[in-house]
Amino acid sequence: MKRSLTSVATAAALLIAGTHGVLAAEQISVLHWWTSGGESKAIRVLKDDMSKQGYEWKDFAIAGGAGAAAMTALKTQVISGNAPSAAQIKGPLIQDWAEQGSLVTIDQSATDWKAHTPARIDSSVKAGGHYVAAPFSVHRINWLWINKADLDKVGGKPPTTWPEFFALADKFRAAGITPVAHGGQPWQDMTIWETVVLSQGADFYRKALVDLDQKTLTSPQMVQVFETVQKIRTYFDKGYHGRDWNLATAMVISGSGGMQFMGDWAKGEFANANKKADVDYICAAAPGTSNAYTYTADTFVFYQQNGKKDATPGQLALAKTIMSVDFQQQFSLYKGSIPVRLDVPMDKFDSCAKKSRADEQATIQSGGFLPSLAFGELQSPVTAGAITDVVTNFMNSNEDPKEGVRKLAAAAKVK
Ligand code: BGC
Repeated sequence: MKRSLTSVATAAALLIAGTHGVLAAEQISVLHWWTSGGESKAIRVLKDDMSKQGYEWKDFAIAGGAGAAAMTALKTQVISGNAPSAAQIKGPLIQDWAEQGSLVTIDQSATDWKAHTPARIDSSVKAGGHYVAAPFSVHRINWLWINKADLDKVGGKPPTTWPEFFALADKFRAAGITPVAHGGQPWQDMTIWETVVLSQGADFYRKALVDLDQKTLTSPQMVQVFETVQKIRTYFDKGYHGRDWNLATAMVISGSGGMQFMGDWAKGEFANANKKADVDYICAAAPGTSNAYTYTADTFVFYQQNGKKDATPGQLALAKTIMSVDFQQQFSLYKGSIPVRLDVPMDKFDSCAKKSRADEQATIQSGGFLPSLAFGELQSPVTAGAITDVVTNFMNSNEDPKEGVRKLAAAAKVK
């Protein structure tokens, strides 16, 4: 009797174990758009951490800066009933997916999150009072990256105003350096435009892009924004159309390009190329934006698996790992961001990250800490998309700035 029970148990174990005789690990499928050198290094930290915990990582990396292609792939996966365990989603989209009833809550993993996360980000990863997303880090958007050797060569200094910026750009041009390394893709166009909006002041940004206030959108100041953007465009090289952001960063790394407007994932590329802040390159707040901070916070949401309403052990472990102090530190060191957790020690970080942390805290106090429109933190995808079309059309034509403003005001009404 005893013998037959043992063999039944063994047979059952073998069934679970499958043909390899090892208990099958839970597979965690993860959809994201981290494919550049620095980005890949950063996400590999998570993959290794999860593998050590016994989970099998299935990677769905969809190339394309800022994630437009990844979002299309995600919709297809969800519609066809193959939702990934976790996906890189941010801003109001988190709530949209939660409202559709596709997500699981991960409260069990989030026991100490509230105490250690900026309040605004903590509330953005919740829906209906429950945690549905895990935040990685905070990226600052309003940076200007400058090649230090180029800057020294032309005897320039980091510009704090637009006139200083254009004077430096002229010096770069005269020295045979492409003044502004840019990739002509809609989200990169938006990065520049949004940063110029911010340079008109945090209040102006808030009224224009958060409140979509028509008076602000059609103001003479907004005409100036379009004029400035039009002038910046004259400092791109001929090959800018369609260029990926990391290739534009590579121009500043090599020195063939003098400056780039880009979020601090660009720093992940500098780090990956063994370049050091203050020595090889400079990070400066874009002209006129030193008292403000446009941000995007990367987060993973967790989809229901096999029709079950509860998170799987793997999803809970993933959420917990993302918000663990050690992971937060190593991820941001590679990624160029700062940890979203405020209790992560900053001593291993460079001067740019330390400045980012200090400015984050100062602008949270002053009201200058603002969600980025370009990176999906602010408006619905429909409204943001309509504004992006206007901006990108403007940057690829010789449209009159006043006409750009007129179209912007109309786009802001698209819901
Ligand atoms: C993400 C970053 C990413 C960048 C470029 C942004 O939307 O927040 O994590 O590095 O896109 O792909």
